Amino acid sequence: MAERRKRNSSIIIGLDVGTTKICAIAGEMTDDGINILFVSSHPSTGLRKGVVIDMEATANSIKKAVADVEDHLGMGIKEVLVGIAGSHIKSFNSYGAVGIKGKEVSSEDVERAIDAASAVYVPLDREILHVLPTDFILDGQEGIKDPVGMAGVRLEVKVYIVTGAVSSVQNFLKCCERAGLEVADIVLQPLASAGATLTDDERDMGIALVDIGGGTTDIAIYKEGWLRHTSVLGIGGNHFTNDISVGLRLPFNEAERVKKKYGSILPENGNPADVDVVALDGQVRGIPKKYIAEILQPRCEELLDLVKHEIDGLQNNGFIISGIVLTGGSSLLEGFDRMAEAVLSMPVRIGYPYLSSGNFNNGSGDEVMSELRGEFNNPMYATGVGLVLYGIEAMMPSERSGFSSDIFNRIIAKMAGWFKNILGKK
Ligand SMILES: Nc1ncnc2c1ncn2[C@@H]1O[C@H](COP(=O)(O)OP(=O)(O)OP(=O)(O)O)[C@@H](O)[C@H]1O
Ligand SMILES: [Mg+2]
Repeated sequence: MAERRKRNSSIIIGLDVGTTKICAIAGEMTDDGINILFVSSHPSTGLRKGVVIDMEATANSIKKAVADVEDHLGMGIKEVLVGIAGSHIKSFNSYGAVGIKGKEVSSEDVERAIDAASAVYVPLDREILHVLPTDFILDGQEGIKDPVGMAGVRLEVKVYIVTGAVSSVQNFLKCCERAGLEVADIVLQPLASAGATLTDDERDMGIALVDIGGGTTDIAIYKEGWLRHTSVLGIGGNHFTNDISVGLRLPFNEAERVKKKYGSILPENGNPADVDVVALDGQVRGIPKKYIAEILQPRCEELLDLVKHEIDGLQNNGFIISGIVLTGGSSLLEGFDRMAEAVLSMPVRIGYPYLSSGNFNNGSGDEVMSELRGEFNNPMYATGVGLVLYGIEAMMPSERSGFSSDIFNRIIAKMAGWFKNILGKK
């Protein structure tokens, strides 16, 4: 029992409320590293393009996913970290500066600088989700990652502020509440996915993470270790399925099965094989596999053109990136990575979630990587795993995770205040 209580206190539950699946992942930090204890996934029916449209259905799926984890761990779950996405998310850059009080920069000075940068006008229907530093400048010297302990007189900070529409966030939180859960923190989904898939080197050199889910494609662009840009595109795997459904006149579920089993956007080599499909009238018929590729190709190109547009916009402003990591369930579509390489003219890899204690702290942690095992070693779980890593990072004492844990604790404290406001709790 004592053992169970001990475990209980350090267990983090990440809840990825996606358009196609709701998954709850339990993880903990042990002396040997991060351990994923259990993953539970249930179909999601109450979201469209990442935004809740049916609270009852969403709350029920959340309940089911969390109940599985509770059964497996043999304990009740009260608190979760949830990921948020959707086109209501908007971000912008801000800047703040303070004078240094002592002889060297303290973590309080860093906090004051970030506070100064956060003091910006935000419309009443929007709330700040994240305030993420993108550069520290000490006495005019740019490019400082951790100013704490350095001598200086004036500290400036550039930050990237992520906001969400109050109503969308509120509905999201209400679903968790209806499922009997308290939200410990809310994290931008692409930020979580990036934390679970990118390496420090990639973040330093400049990389675009593209999480192609069911309802949306989330983009997060990193350069010199910091998050520089995020955006959400309203296209995902459901559009691919829909195209197959319309193009081949199949029920949606059959089109989904056909897409996952035979879906490919590679040009056919040799004889095009026939695949069996169950048509609307219930009859089984054979169709050439190349038809599926012909239907999928234009949609995938359209999506990649939109991604290119986002990346080009940033590169024109001097943020040159050197590669792309595709993640999310739809990144598994055969040939997608090769098409992305051709359209974006950059090296592309598929991002499988991995476990590392240093994923969120801009390179100051140990990069001890380990993969998830079995069916959960899948890009679909990048967001969920990233949420667990985010929670573990925020929980770690600062000597283990470097200065960034102060920043994360600070952000989490701020977030907690915001949740209380929204949910009307003490
Ligand atoms: N092997 C596969 N080939 C092609 N597509 C796949 C494959 N496996 C899963 N998918 C697609 O991935 C999508 C689900 O991905 P994911 O779980 O990342 O989305 P989500 O998190 O539920 O949605 P979102 O992030 O958009 O809210 C579905 O559209 C599914 O059809
Ligand atoms: Mg997702």
